[in-house]
Amino acid sequence: MSKPSILVARAIFPEVLNQLQQVFDVDHNQDDVVMSPAELHARMKGKVGALTTGSERIDGPLLHACPGLKIVANMAVGYNNFDVDAMTKAGVLATNTPDVLTETTADFGFALLMATARRVTESEHFLRDGKWTKWSYDMFAGAEVHGSTVGIIGMGRIGQGIARRAAHGFGMQVLYHNRSRLSPELELECKSRYVDKTTLLREADHVVLVVPYSAASHHTIGANELAQMKPTATLINIARGGIVDDAALAKALKDRRIAAAGLDVFEGEPQVHPELLTVPNVVLTPHIASATVKTRMAMAQLAADNLMDYLLRGQTRTPINPEVCA
Ligand code: GLV
Repeated sequence: MSKPSILVARAIFPEVLNQLQQVFDVDHNQDDVVMSPAELHARMKGKVGALTTGSERIDGPLLHACPGLKIVANMAVGYNNFDVDAMTKAGVLATNTPDVLTETTADFGFALLMATARRVTESEHFLRDGKWTKWSYDMFAGAEVHGSTVGIIGMGRIGQGIARRAAHGFGMQVLYHNRSRLSPELELECKSRYVDKTTLLREADHVVLVVPYSAASHHTIGANELAQMKPTATLINIARGGIVDDAALAKALKDRRIAAAGLDVFEGEPQVHPELLTVPNVVLTPHIASATVKTRMAMAQLAADNLMDYLLRGQTRTPINPEVCA
């Protein structure tokens, strides 16, 4: 009997690919060439499933061209590359990889906050460039982390992980803003206080963005919001490009409207706004918040398990639109 055909749209761990090859006829991309939408359409045709990352857009035209498609499993917790409504209408199950990356991503959010506040990369460049000729009292003096106030926008699982690290590990005051308030038990556990966005921007020494991308969260932070922050504040984005207006941020950093930023995600990545590359007071990383070997392996395995469970057994693990199976 022939095996069901799937597409693995980007390179993944060979051991996970091997598991998929045992049970599916796999069209893979271990050369890791990023496909244009037209190439993706062509390769997806005739497939019943696909394993994608954030770089493949699954939308109405693609679904129309692939009537046999049953599931697309994203190897990411975020799924703004999916048009979920169109997938649901087309009867295509969408899955993501929540939970397995929560703590790792919260670790990275904190690492970026520390590196930004304490000017780690800026000072390293100074040293590597041979500019360190003497010690001086204010050399790379940054912002305090312990005992300061962090404001978290987006208090889902990762936001809560950052709150716990901040409150319990660094004695920080934690303010948060979210679509809905946490239960009193969770607020207590995260030692976090719910405030409106304006209060958060005005009072936080460090603003951390962990909100999912949607039309409603586009440019959550733009020139207006940056103007409300303390001039000594830092801004950390581990959420998605587009949550911050990068052009407005570059200007605010250049004008020292805020002290510094740490960015793991960018509008139009892997392109980075050229002005961000010229300002010293920003730490830039290439979308690696979940990148530990263990966590990336767990994400790949969960995406593969989603495909195998659904296509071979009709079961779901981490569905985004479970109503498709009803
Ligand atoms: C990474 O950005 C993810 O959404 O998992």
